[in-house]
Amino acid sequence: MRKSLAVVAGLATTGLLLTGCGSSGGDNGSTDTDSGASGDKVEVFTWWASGSEKVGLDALVSVFDEQHPDIEFINAAVAGGAGSNAKAALASRLEANDPPDSFQAHAGAELTDYIEAGQLQDLSGFFNDEGLTEVFPESLIERLTVDGKIYSVPSNIHRANVTWVNTDVLESAGIDATKAPASVDAWIADLKKLKDAGVESPLALGTEWTQMQLFETLLIAELGAEGYSGLWDGSTGWDDAGVTTAIDQYGQLLEYVNSDFAGLDWDAATQVLIDGAAGYNVMGDWAEAAFVQAGWTYGQEYTTWPSVGTEGIFDFLADSFTLPVGAPHEDGANAWLKTVSSADGQKAFNQAKGSIPARTDADPADYGDYQKTALQSWAEDTIVSSLAHGAAAKISWSTDISSAIGKFGSDKNADALQSALVDAATKALG
Ligand code: GAL
Repeated sequence: MRKSLAVVAGLATTGLLLTGCGSSGGDNGSTDTDSGASGDKVEVFTWWASGSEKVGLDALVSVFDEQHPDIEFINAAVAGGAGSNAKAALASRLEANDPPDSFQAHAGAELTDYIEAGQLQDLSGFFNDEGLTEVFPESLIERLTVDGKIYSVPSNIHRANVTWVNTDVLESAGIDATKAPASVDAWIADLKKLKDAGVESPLALGTEWTQMQLFETLLIAELGAEGYSGLWDGSTGWDDAGVTTAIDQYGQLLEYVNSDFAGLDWDAATQVLIDGAAGYNVMGDWAEAAFVQAGWTYGQEYTTWPSVGTEGIFDFLADSFTLPVGAPHEDGANAWLKTVSSADGQKAFNQAKGSIPARTDADPADYGDYQKTALQSWAEDTIVSSLAHGAAAKISWSTDISSAIGKFGSDKNADALQSALVDAATKALG
């Protein structure tokens, strides 16, 4: 708690805390007195504060404004990819009994943190009233359900195991950009080829959570879908030889990244690729929106493949929206959740965000070429849960893993990393 408050205080003094047009505290707090006006506004908390992510949120808000013209949308976004600042800011607000009307949270383990803390209202009735159990896939409903209750409304499905490729950079070094190398070792050989050809930082990387995301793709490649999934219930030990290999590979990859990686959020890291200073970037498919914004065409300036060794596996995460206990504007929140779950809302949002709709009634023709590949993989592949994006592990566990990986970025001590991972699992699973 002390840490969360310190983060929020730091954000407030650096002016990072609020990027939206509305206010987040004060008149929207739990002591709201305009109880007759619970439907005149809605304060929505996300981390889609800038760039292509804000474009996605804006697209969803446009549909909300059309569907609910009398409700004022208050944007309480907190900047920082993957919720790196938002989650702490949100924790402080929830702790202080000052919840927003709805907040973004990942489907899966991350939701259970809020549920166990009694911070979320049961939305099962909303799902029934809106017929949502019919329009979302069963596999997703399962990940949203805890003890028979559903606590959030999914807006999209993102894929985390995507490698983005600057085709020009690869082709200039004589590397086939169209297909993934056969193994991580073969990929490392290509990274070396790029370096020898004068590419400054062949693999674009960013801040701690992006490192964790790269590492999770290596775990999936090395352990396979079943072995990787076993890490989250204890059936695969973190002392497994496959984890040791993944750490070794991760250490080798770090030889080829941009030297300023620790300080870059995902969009700045992806920009390194767009600028031609890197050949590859392992990033979730919110990056698709950044390439579209840059005016690039899929299959021409850039392409993608499932991260090396993860073909046939979809490393999944879903953003979803909640109704917190004590939300000051419940009617406004219900209206927001209706838009989030509607076919029009999901289409507008996902077209802009790079993700695919969580609803099963989407028409692939409405989406770009990259997204068509994601729609197909989502339907056919084995699904695993993303670590870096709240699907696999509760927040305290992923925070421990993230810090251990961040530390490895500077000390390169493989033994220390593996024992920190073992300790984190023991702490989380008991
Ligand atoms: C993820 C989130 C995505 C995207 C990404 C980068 O955690 O689910 O929607 O925003 O972070 O910020």
